[in-house]
Amino acid sequence: MDKPDPIGVGIQYNPEILDWFPFESLDVDLFEVLLDPFMGPLDGPSVFLPGALERLRELRRKRPLLAHSNYGCDFGFGDLERTPAVLRHVPMARAIGSPWIADHSFYGDESWLDIWSSPVQFSPTEVRRIADRARRLQEHYGIPLAHENAAYYLATPGSTMREADFMAALVERSGTFLHLDLHNVYANSLNLAGFDPMAYLETIPLDRVIAVHLAGGSWHDGLYHDWHDNPVPEPVWELLDWLLARARPGAVILEYQGRCHHESTRLLDTDDESMIVRDLARAKAAWAAASVHWAGVS
Ligand SMILES: [Fe+2]
Repeated sequence: MDKPDPIGVGIQYNPEILDWFPFESLDVDLFEVLLDPFMGPLDGPSVFLPGALERLRELRRKRPLLAHSNYGCDFGFGDLERTPAVLRHVPMARAIGSPWIADHSFYGDESWLDIWSSPVQFSPTEVRRIADRARRLQEHYGIPLAHENAAYYLATPGSTMREADFMAALVERSGTFLHLDLHNVYANSLNLAGFDPMAYLETIPLDRVIAVHLAGGSWHDGLYHDWHDNPVPEPVWELLDWLLARARPGAVILEYQGRCHHESTRLLDTDDESMIVRDLARAKAAWAAASVHWAGVS
């Protein structure tokens, strides 16, 4: 499957801040849509919640939509054909015309969805098992499938590989792609001993990076959390500049949200609109500078 053409800079269309944030008046190239909040229940008759498809099709008239699957249970241990990813997210991504789909490198199954803190086991055995599921899932989608790297606080027991080596081996074996969350890389470098962000970027195959996430986070109880509740930190901007000088992703996407990750998350409000607009402007400037570079080398 080929890597899609670049689209530009966008923002995650997050229902948690829809009530006050003016998404549709922003100067952005795309919206990333989290599929789960729009998904019909698995034991119900509809792929979308009532009215959701109409709402997303209306939004798509203004900007291209990129689908993102959080709770697909893609890499759990249940039957892949019975996961929310296959039963719901595949037809949803098609219905909104997404050029690719992102998922998470987390475990999850029908009874276990602690996805924010359950990274997959970084081991050769899991490379083989997960790559097989990823390859089959990408065939179901019929569009490129990109795996988002996790923020976590401990490696899953049994891990014998560095995360970057695992992700590289996974996409090499499955023929899938990467959705590189630079803030998660940054968060891991603060929380995990020996996690070097530059070593991470120098290990993964940059030509497989379809999309990039940027966000900010907060310190709480001695750990730095990917809570999407603050401006993008300076070191993350530096990682973005490094990346864009060497790779050509399809999109750079900013993430902001409410308290979905944790009750201690700083609650964004209308005062934060200028912060988000500033981050977006900086991302667009980085993209524009990289576009000049890409035009010079192509
Ligand atoms: Fe992310």
